[in-house]
Amino acid sequence: MAKDRDGQVTSSMGINTRLAHSGNNPHDYFGFVNPPVVHASTVLYPDAASMAARSQKYTYGTRGTPTTDALADAIDALEGSAGTIVVPSGLAAVTVPLLAFVSAGDHLLIVDSVYHPTRNFADTMLKRLGVEVEYYAPHVGAGIAALIKPNTKVVFTESPASNTFELQDIPAIVKAAHAAGAIVMMDNTWATPLYFRPLDHGVDISIHAATKYPAGHSDVLLGTVSANESCWKHLYESFCTLGCCAGPDDVYQVLRGLRTMGVRLERHQRSALAIASWLEGQKGVARVLHPALPSHPDHGLWKRDFSGSSGIFSIVLAGGGQKQQHAFLDALQIFGLGYSWGGYESLAVPVWLADRVVAKGPYEGPLIRLQIGLEDVEDLKADILRGLTAAASA
Ligand SMILES: Cc1ncc(COP(=O)(O)O)c(C=O)c1O
Repeated sequence: MAKDRDGQVTSSMGINTRLAHSGNNPHDYFGFVNPPVVHASTVLYPDAASMAARSQKYTYGTRGTPTTDALADAIDALEGSAGTIVVPSGLAAVTVPLLAFVSAGDHLLIVDSVYHPTRNFADTMLKRLGVEVEYYAPHVGAGIAALIKPNTKVVFTESPASNTFELQDIPAIVKAAHAAGAIVMMDNTWATPLYFRPLDHGVDISIHAATKYPAGHSDVLLGTVSANESCWKHLYESFCTLGCCAGPDDVYQVLRGLRTMGVRLERHQRSALAIASWLEGQKGVARVLHPALPSHPDHGLWKRDFSGSSGIFSIVLAGGGQKQQHAFLDALQIFGLGYSWGGYESLAVPVWLADRVVAKGPYEGPLIRLQIGLEDVEDLKADILRGLTAAASA
C-alpha cells in the first residue's frame, strides 16, 4: 500500500477494511475521521528561500492538496500504483494520459470497442496533433504483435468492452506491447480495482471514471489515473502542465463514496447476475452479454483474470430494430433513460455501434445496455418484462 495508518492498515487486510481506512490518517488532522476539504489556489511559504526552492509539500492548488492526496493515496492502495492523479471527469482520465504519452508521428492502437468519447478524442484532437490512430479487434490477444509498428507508443485497452462486453486478453497484449517498447493503458472503470487490478497484470496506466462506482450516486464527475513506477513521474508532470485538476468538493465526495463501494458493488454484482441469468430464459431475448455468465464466449478469460463483476451488461433482442428497441425503453418505469452508470439507480440506454470499424457483431437484433442499481430485483424484473412485452408488440 502506498500509505498506511501508522502501519495498522495493510494490503493483506480485507477489501472493505481497506476501503474504510485507506487514504487519510485521521491523526494528521486532529483525529477527525474524514480529511479536510481544502479549497486552495494559493499556498503560503514561510520565506523567500523556500519559495524559490519550492521546498515544501504543497506549493500551489493545481499540484495537489491534502484532500486530493487522501483520495490519490486511497486509490494507490487499491491499484498497487506508484501514484495517482485526480482529474475532473472520467473522460479527462482518458485524455490526460494520452496527451502525456503520445506525440506527433507516434502510432496509437485503440481497441475498437472503446468508450465512444475516447474514440472521438483520438479521431479529432490526437489526429489533428499528428498522431496515427488505429483500431484493433477486442479479441486480438497476442495478435496485437502484428499491428505494432516501430512508432507504436501506446496500446489502449478497455475490458470488458463498452456496451458489448467482450473481454480482452490483457496479459497477452501487455507482453507483446512491452516486447516492442510500447506502454499499455487500460480503462478499468467496469471492474473497479476491487475486481481487476491492471498493474498486477503488467498494465502501465490504469484509468477510472470515478464518476461511476466510486462516486456511486450520479451526482459527481471525476476521474483517476494511476501509474506504475516508470510512468508516474511523466504522468504527474503532464498533469501539472495541463492544469487539469479537480475541485475539492468533488474529490471529497468520491473519497466518501469509496468507503461504501465494496458493499454497494456486492449488491450491484448479485442483482445484475440474478437479472442477467433470468433474462437468458426470457422470450424476446436472443443473448445476454455479461462476462460472468457461463454462456458468455469470454467467460474463461473473465474467470482467469477477474475476481468479480459489476452491475452493467447488455441484452440483444431477438430480432427487430430501432422500433422495438425504443418500445422497450419507453415502457420502462423504474429504469431511467440516461447515460452513465455506477449510481444507486437503474438505467437503460440504446446501444449504438455505428462508430465501430471491426467489432460490429453481427447481432440478432438491437442491443440495450442495462445498469442494475440497488433497487429490489423483483421490481426490476417486472420493469424489464414491461419492456420486453412492449418490444414484442411493437
Ligand atoms: C468506460 C468509461 N470510461 C470513461 C467514461 C467517462 O466518464 P465521465 O462520464 O466521468 O466523463 C465513461 C462514461 O460513461 C465510461 O463508460
